[in-house]
Amino acid sequence: MAQLWGGRFQKETDKLVYAFNASIGFDQKFFHEDVMGSVAHVKMLSKQGIITEEERDVILSGLDGIVKDVDSGKLSITDEYEDIHSFVEANLIDRIGDAGKKLHTGRSRNDQVALDMRLFTRKEVKETDGLLKEFLQTILSVMEANVDTYMPGFTHLQKAQPVTLAHHVGAYFEMFKRDRLRLHDLYERMNYCPLGSGALAGTTYPLDREFTAKELDFYGPTANSMDGVSDRDYLLEYLFTLSVIMMHLSRFSEEVIIWNSNEYGFVEIDDAYSTGSSIMPQKKNPDIAELVRGKTGRVYGALTSLLTTMKGIPLAYNKDMQEDKELSFDAMDTAKGCIALFDGMLSTMKFKKEVMADSAMKGFTNATDAADYLVNKGVPFRDAHGIIGRIVLYCIEKGIAIDEMQLSELKEFAPEFEEDIFDAISLKTCVDKRLTTGAPGKEAMEEEIKKCRAYLEKN
Ligand code: ARG
Repeated sequence: MAQLWGGRFQKETDKLVYAFNASIGFDQKFFHEDVMGSVAHVKMLSKQGIITEEERDVILSGLDGIVKDVDSGKLSITDEYEDIHSFVEANLIDRIGDAGKKLHTGRSRNDQVALDMRLFTRKEVKETDGLLKEFLQTILSVMEANVDTYMPGFTHLQKAQPVTLAHHVGAYFEMFKRDRLRLHDLYERMNYCPLGSGALAGTTYPLDREFTAKELDFYGPTANSMDGVSDRDYLLEYLFTLSVIMMHLSRFSEEVIIWNSNEYGFVEIDDAYSTGSSIMPQKKNPDIAELVRGKTGRVYGALTSLLTTMKGIPLAYNKDMQEDKELSFDAMDTAKGCIALFDGMLSTMKFKKEVMADSAMKGFTNATDAADYLVNKGVPFRDAHGIIGRIVLYCIEKGIAIDEMQLSELKEFAPEFEEDIFDAISLKTCVDKRLTTGAPGKEAMEEEIKKCRAYLEKN
């Protein structure tokens, strides 16, 4: 057991207590961030005359050696140390002797861990943003290729009005774009450096917190040292954003699962992104979509867990906060994996355009347009609604679409029907007449696509 705090104690820590208290099993994840923080701290200590330049150089080369040895596998991080901070410090002292004992001058593990977690999360935020950008590019390609791909739009999972695939996936473009905005927004709030907050009350050494903040690419130091060591808001905001991303992905997954069902058959998931059954040879299952939908639960779990952990914690640092790590790391890895996998699945998925258009036709998605046709011929809307309702019933009994009726049959329901009804209720007309901003009509959609493209070029 290598501990940083033996002096005041007369007895060894109980073995179970040691294991219960230790965090090395998971905080080794930010080993590199821990060293980055130490490097900035040591440079500042020498700049301020708190340690000498020689001591600084010895410490820096010692830290560099530790990183090299860990990265090459020569040195392993073991649970002989309580946490990653102890691991680094103990190894440094082993390597360079007394100079290593000066590394922790003017610092506490409280501001150290606050910094490490923030640096790690900041890197994760950037990575998530990059993955979302790539995903948006995939969505945009699907949009560009499908402004004429007709499909039913649904409400209550009942076919409602015709839309296009471009329009449908365009809705997801907006969702994931907002998720990126959330990431950018929380980044602005989180990018302040807690290093130099000390245990809670700053320190009596003349630390230059502006310098370390700049070294580590923060906008500046955090304003209050008690808040600096105990703030995990940024992590909660990030977990919330990951939860929303997962919620969006789970909705998209659910649609893919429905579209891929035998009954719908709108899509064919690529072999590389589906799995089979050990007993039923005909099966090709949408497991990736199902898993993404399922994993949403554990990301929500991480958010709920940390919100609950942080509830009622008095200022400043308390050990409860060590619980901010394991589930958060899991949520970060889970969400990133899901974005990348869903992206791969979407970019290789085949859309069966005829099946989709046929489904829109057979689902009477043009019924509203047929009623509007009669209104244009002078029939009051309420009457038109009734007439088309009766026509739909007639079609259901005969197993046909409205478009498949003869003009003579239509005239039996209303004499106002003329030959032009067929053009008026074609999917193309129904969609292309919807030209309000944000609607599926081809011209409106092309306008939206232009804006999406411009957004991705700039952001
Ligand atoms: N492992 C601890 C954590 O994750 C590091 C900070 C320890 N600070 C302390 N006062 N015991 O929060």
